[in-house]
Amino acid sequence: MCGIVGYIGHREAYPIVLKGLKRLEYRGYDSAGIAIYDGKEIQLCKTKGKVVDLEQKIKEETPTSGTLAIGHTRWATHGIPNDINSHPHYSNSGNLVIIHNGIIENYDSIKKELIKRGYHFHSDTDTEVLVNLIEDVIKKEKVKLGKAVQIALNQVVGAYAIVVFDKAKPNELVVAKLGSPLAIGLGENEFFVASDASPFIEYTNNAIYLEDEEMAVIRRHKGVKIRKIKDDSLVEPYIQELQLNLEQIEKGGFDHFMMKEIYEQPSAIKDTFRGRLLADQGIIKVGGLEDHIQKFVNANRIVIVGCGTSWHAGLVAEYIFEDLARIPVEVEYASEFRYRNPIITEKDVVIAISQSGETADTLAAIKLAKSKGAFVYGVCNVVGSTISRETHSGTYTHAGPEIGVASTKAFTTQITVLTLIALKLASVKGTISFRDYNIYLRELDLIPKRVEIALKSNDHIKSIAKIFKDAKNFLYLGRGYNFPVALEGALKLKEISYIHAEGYPAAEMKHGPIALIDEEMPVVVIAVNSNHYDKVVSNIQEIKSRKGIIIAVVTKGDTTVRNMADYVIEVPETPESLTPLVTTIPLQLLSYHIAVLLDRNVDQPRNLAKSVTVE
Ligand code: G6P
Repeated sequence: MCGIVGYIGHREAYPIVLKGLKRLEYRGYDSAGIAIYDGKEIQLCKTKGKVVDLEQKIKEETPTSGTLAIGHTRWATHGIPNDINSHPHYSNSGNLVIIHNGIIENYDSIKKELIKRGYHFHSDTDTEVLVNLIEDVIKKEKVKLGKAVQIALNQVVGAYAIVVFDKAKPNELVVAKLGSPLAIGLGENEFFVASDASPFIEYTNNAIYLEDEEMAVIRRHKGVKIRKIKDDSLVEPYIQELQLNLEQIEKGGFDHFMMKEIYEQPSAIKDTFRGRLLADQGIIKVGGLEDHIQKFVNANRIVIVGCGTSWHAGLVAEYIFEDLARIPVEVEYASEFRYRNPIITEKDVVIAISQSGETADTLAAIKLAKSKGAFVYGVCNVVGSTISRETHSGTYTHAGPEIGVASTKAFTTQITVLTLIALKLASVKGTISFRDYNIYLRELDLIPKRVEIALKSNDHIKSIAKIFKDAKNFLYLGRGYNFPVALEGALKLKEISYIHAEGYPAAEMKHGPIALIDEEMPVVVIAVNSNHYDKVVSNIQEIKSRKGIIIAVVTKGDTTVRNMADYVIEVPETPESLTPLVTTIPLQLLSYHIAVLLDRNVDQPRNLAKSVTVE
């Protein structure tokens, strides 16, 4: 969480950093700030609120000239969101300025020590403690900024990506990373730093992603020098060529990123298939899997870990892996897995699912599984992300950047990847017939088209949203493959509309949620053709007899549910195990329209962040 941006070079830094902050705002948006340095004076402006509020404040009161600047958009951890707790933070002398993403866990003891030594603090943040610790090291040890950062970081416990500069060193930025992402963009005599590459993509395609426990001193005319924080050894930089383009991170005519990303799903799924699904030839080729297939085939079980929407994708995968490949699967919240004492052996395969590839709990779960000897496979969207590097192997979803905080195309492409893997394993293990395998391949190939058709219900769904926008509660029900879809539908609504919603397996309804049903309660039921269809029909009847309002997602041409439901939304006929890829679409659209009608901030819902790098 928190987005950080920095620039040092020959251009005016403020517009670059401001634009970068807007692109990173998905990472946190309760306050923002920028410090600009022209070699003589530091101009620092920060405020509670969004980057536009900061922009306005700067317009009114802050000169912006200077070729060095750092900026921050915050998701509060220590200290409430207010002007004072916003970053950047000065050291006591006013010479050092820092921005920080992460948490310094032992900040309290360091702060007490510094107070004894005469330091005073204006904010409640751990960050202000860190910048003063660095200042203290400079004074005590008589060292330069880079060395002081290194010494200070060896004293802290926690996670960080930091950018810091010293008034006495106008040509230098010092950055460091542990647990939070940090990319350095390399231009011609200019350098960018940011939490991801989006702030500098129009300036350079060359980037270095710092590894954990690395720091870099970036000098305006001399370039980047990377060292290990612990042992001071020099690191040969690995320069990556970025694939990202500007168009991918702009709204492209849609009102919100979320809607753009919902509509991108047909092409995102195609991109996920590219080179991997060759339906005509009966071939599935998943790069990261090919060399490790026997690990999966011989595994005692697969344990899937993830958080939020990624956990829901894991639940769908549980059905498909067990169904097709006959491998036992368990799905766990990464945050639970890591803190209990899970029984994991070398015979287990752990799949970690993460859109961002940075989620702290998922990362910790990976480390734990590795320490117990398991083979760990990643399913990530962000190329080069920490999780993609920490896992033994993995597959990228290739959904393109997802900027809306509520995950949409990441979810469907995660399911796509996991389905490809399950089918590949099923064919290698011989748990699927040749005929069925080929049918699946052809059906999978048709999914982008079916998603496109599902999107055509948008106007109809908008009209349903108008009717239910003021509902206080929603229930989402589904069975089998569509139980996780019900969970995901409820999560989407909660996240962006702030309406309370619960997802439930339809059969479990009678063990509790049925007590909530009355004439005020909209119940979204996924009632597409499947093995459970008749049972779902019975559940609908149970709801109707208690005067609940049914919004049903049905297979095109359905008449039975149509006669019972108050509102129906059709999706194209699809084999049951692939239905989550299409039934998810109307639920995404329903929550989107309700949130827009309620005037919510769809792309940046309150209290949430896209990438949760705190535990
Ligand atoms: C946050 C996001 C969710 C996401 C979850 C897991 O809560 O707001 O959209 O599903 O983190 O993120 P990951 O990047 O690991 O998939």
